[in-house]
Amino acid sequence: MNNTGLFIRTIAFAVLGYFFFNWIGSTEDATAFENLPWLWVVYGVIILFYIAGEASLGALSRVLYASLKPDAQKKYDENIAFAKANQFKWIKNIYKKSLGSKAVEEEHEIILDHNYDGIKELDNNLPPWWVYMFYATILFAVVYLVRFEIFNNYDQDEEYETAVAAAQIEIDEWKKTAKNLVDVNTVVLLTDAADINAGKVIFQSNCVACHKADGGGGIGPNLTDRNWILGGGIKNVFNTISEGGRSGKGMVAWKQDLKPLEMAQVASYVLTFEGTTPAEPKAAEGEIWTDPDAPQIEEQINEIITDSLDHPEVEIEELKVVTDNN
Ligand code: HEC
Repeated sequence: MNNTGLFIRTIAFAVLGYFFFNWIGSTEDATAFENLPWLWVVYGVIILFYIAGEASLGALSRVLYASLKPDAQKKYDENIAFAKANQFKWIKNIYKKSLGSKAVEEEHEIILDHNYDGIKELDNNLPPWWVYMFYATILFAVVYLVRFEIFNNYDQDEEYETAVAAAQIEIDEWKKTAKNLVDVNTVVLLTDAADINAGKVIFQSNCVACHKADGGGGIGPNLTDRNWILGGGIKNVFNTISEGGRSGKGMVAWKQDLKPLEMAQVASYVLTFEGTTPAEPKAAEGEIWTDPDAPQIEEQINEIITDSLDHPEVEIEELKVVTDNN
């Protein structure tokens, strides 16, 4: 008995079933089988039923065959043989046609009349698959010529820029789902209320013992003033939280306990303290921090104010322009 057919059908059925379950049951981040492990059992039982069904059908047809009279059996066999011979006939035909060659028996029609030491040449047609591909390339060339050489649809630079822009959109999308990948180089100040609130919760459960709930400071320094021992701005603050303060001061590295996103959230929350007035502020420590990347508006204003002491009339206008522009 030939089991190959049964084997192939069962595998095809199993694969289809697998995709079907995943298609109806997968969520964004897990397959159906990860979501519902017992699905494997259901899946296994269904496959067993399938095999049982196939087996009983096979048995049935063998019983029926045995019950036929000998000439009916012969006819049946012939029909099966005929069907087998004609299996995939249309594919075979297309394949033959695409070669465009002549059958061996007809080769004498296309033989050329030269003969080199018994070696003869056939004047075969070019294979149609080749000819049509050749026509297609000609068509392509015409379209290409008109589109890019005559109408200058777009050039390589533009194509590059479109691709980069599309990639940028994808990166931005991806970053939204990959917030936890921030590190000290990529961290930015988070301003969403959700992030700030999350930062507040983290701060209240980890940091208040030393920095106080209002950031006024205790064992740790005051976080509400503009002075920073280890540097202000989101990057420095993130780095301090992640790596800790100077050794022996009491500020440990939090990177073991907090995820990168959580450190970004609590760092952003810490930065909301600036300018608030805590109940018992600790005296300022460290340097006044100015962000080197920030627009130098203050310097400009100071300069103008100093100047304006000499020429009060002109400079007020200029001051207005600078403040408006920033
Ligand atoms: C055990 C006490 C303690 C705890 C808890 C603590 N800190 Fe600190 N923190 C300190 C000390 C002390 C310093 C000063 C470090 C130094 O001088 O190097 C500091 C410094 C800092 C600084 C830098 C301040 C500056 O002026 O540069 C930041 C920001 C900070 N902590 C945030 C946090 C956050 C956020 C948490 C909670 C996740 C936290 N700290 C928990 C004691 C603590």
